[in-house]
Amino acid sequence: MVSRVIPVDPFDLVIFGGTGDLARRKILPGLFRRFIAGQMPPEARIIGAARTDMDSAGYREMIAGAIDEFGGIDTPPAGTLDAFLAQLEYVTIDAKGEAGWAELQELMKGTGRVEAYYFSVAPSLFGDLAERLQHWGMADVDARIVVEKPFGRDLATAKALNGTLAKYFNEDQIYRIDHYLGKETVQNLMAVRFGNMLFEPLWNAQYVDHIQITVAETVGVGGRGEYYDKSGAMRDMVQNHLMQLLCLIAMEPPARFDPDAVRDEKLKVIRALDPVLPHHIMRGQYEAEAGQEGTHPSYREAVGDPRSKTESFIALKTQISNWRWSGTPFYLRTGKRMAARSSEISVVFKETPHSIFGPDAGQHRNVLSIRLQPNEGITLGVTIKEPGPGGMRLIDVPLDMTFAEALDDDAEHVDAYERLIMDVIRGNQTLFMRGDEVEAAWAWTDPIIHGWEARGEVPKPYDSGSNGTTDSHELMRRDGREWRKVSL
Ligand code: BG6
Repeated sequence: MVSRVIPVDPFDLVIFGGTGDLARRKILPGLFRRFIAGQMPPEARIIGAARTDMDSAGYREMIAGAIDEFGGIDTPPAGTLDAFLAQLEYVTIDAKGEAGWAELQELMKGTGRVEAYYFSVAPSLFGDLAERLQHWGMADVDARIVVEKPFGRDLATAKALNGTLAKYFNEDQIYRIDHYLGKETVQNLMAVRFGNMLFEPLWNAQYVDHIQITVAETVGVGGRGEYYDKSGAMRDMVQNHLMQLLCLIAMEPPARFDPDAVRDEKLKVIRALDPVLPHHIMRGQYEAEAGQEGTHPSYREAVGDPRSKTESFIALKTQISNWRWSGTPFYLRTGKRMAARSSEISVVFKETPHSIFGPDAGQHRNVLSIRLQPNEGITLGVTIKEPGPGGMRLIDVPLDMTFAEALDDDAEHVDAYERLIMDVIRGNQTLFMRGDEVEAAWAWTDPIIHGWEARGEVPKPYDSGSNGTTDSHELMRRDGREWRKVSL
C-alpha cells in the first residue's frame, strides 16, 4: 500500500537547542525523512539556533553526521541529503541575552511563510525565549511555538509555565508535545474505537471487567540519571504518556476529529479520575543485572545516590467516576529494565453471564489487546471449541491483526516526531496537549506524589529483566485478576 504524501505549506522552522540531543536524534533525521517522502517543500527552511559558536556550513556538517548516525536510512536517494542540507541555516544565539537575536530577526523578516519555533531546550528557558521572540517582533499571531516535556513538575510549576507562555502567545499558537500522541498505533486507537460499530456498544462498565495499560522498557536510566532522579516514573511517564493513553481509551466519542472536540473529551476523563489510594500504588527501583553489574548497574548506582527514593517502576489502580466507567478499574504500569520493550493496552471483557457448557469448560474472557510497540497491531482473544472429539472443551485463540502483515511492509513508517512537526506546520493541534489538560493531569498526580513524600515511602527493589515489583502482582491478585505477560 503506497501512502499519499501531501506537501505542507512552505515554512521556516527555528529549532532552539538545534545542536542538542533531541534535535540530532529525532527532529532533524525526522525532517530529512519527510524531505525524502516529498512532504517538505523546497522553499522551507530549518534554522538551528543554539549557544555553540558555529556557522551554517558547520551546522550542515553536524546534521549530516546526525542523520548518518540516527536517521535509520541506509542509502538516501541520490542528491537528497545535499538538497536537504541546503535548506538548513544556523544562528548562534543566547536565550538569556541579546546575542544572535538581530540576526534571527533578519532571517525571519517578512517571509510570508509559516513560522514555527521549536523550544528544544530546558523548560527554565521557555519564558526567556518567548519574551525575546516578542521583543524582536517574531511572536505575531500566526507564529507557532512547540514545547517539549517536561511541562512543569507539579501543578504550580505547570500553571506558572502556562501563565508565562500566555503572556506572549495564544493557546492556539502553543503546541505541547507528548510524543506518544504521534505514534501510529495510538492514533489507530481512535480509528478502532470510533471507526467501527463493533466495539463501542461494549465499551463500558457493563461489559468491560478492567483495562490494563503497560508501557515496559528494557533500557535503564542510562546517562539521564540527573534528570530522571528528580522525576521518576510518575512524572516522566504516567502524568503524560500513560495518562494520554488512558484518555484515548476511556473518552466519550468526540463530535468531530478536531483539536478542541478531542481535547475537551480527554479533559473530562482526567477530571473524572478518582484520587489513587495509597495501597493502590506500588513503586519500585531496579536492581543490577546479575552478572552484568558493571554495564547494567542498579538504579541507585546509575543515578549516583545510594539513598534515592525515586521510582523507576510504578503500578497503580484507578477508577473513572462517570456513567460509562463506574465499576471498571484501570490498572497502569510502567518501568525501566523490565523483561521486554512492550507497550500494550488490554481491554479485558467480562465473562459470559452464564456458561451453558458446564464447569469443565472453564472461565473465558475476551481480551482486546492493542499493541503500541513493537509489532504494532490488535489482537482479539476469542473463545472457541477445542477441535477434536471428546466433548465440549473451550479454548481461547487470538484473532490477530499485526499491522505490518495486514498492510504490507511498504506502508510508510512515520516516526512520532515527524508526524507531530508536520502537524505543527499544518496548524493542527489535535495531537498536542492543551494547557488545561496538562494542569488537570498534574492536579491528579500531585496528591499521589505528596502522599508518598509525606509518608517517607521508599520504592521496593525489583530484578532487572523482570515484570516489576512483587507487590505490583499482589495489586492485581487481590482483585482476582492478573497482569498480562510483558513479552515481545
Ligand atoms: C520519554 C521518557 O518521554 O519517553 C523516557 O522521558 C522514555 O524516559 C521514553 O524512555 C519512552 O518513549 P518510547 O517512544 O521509546 O516509548
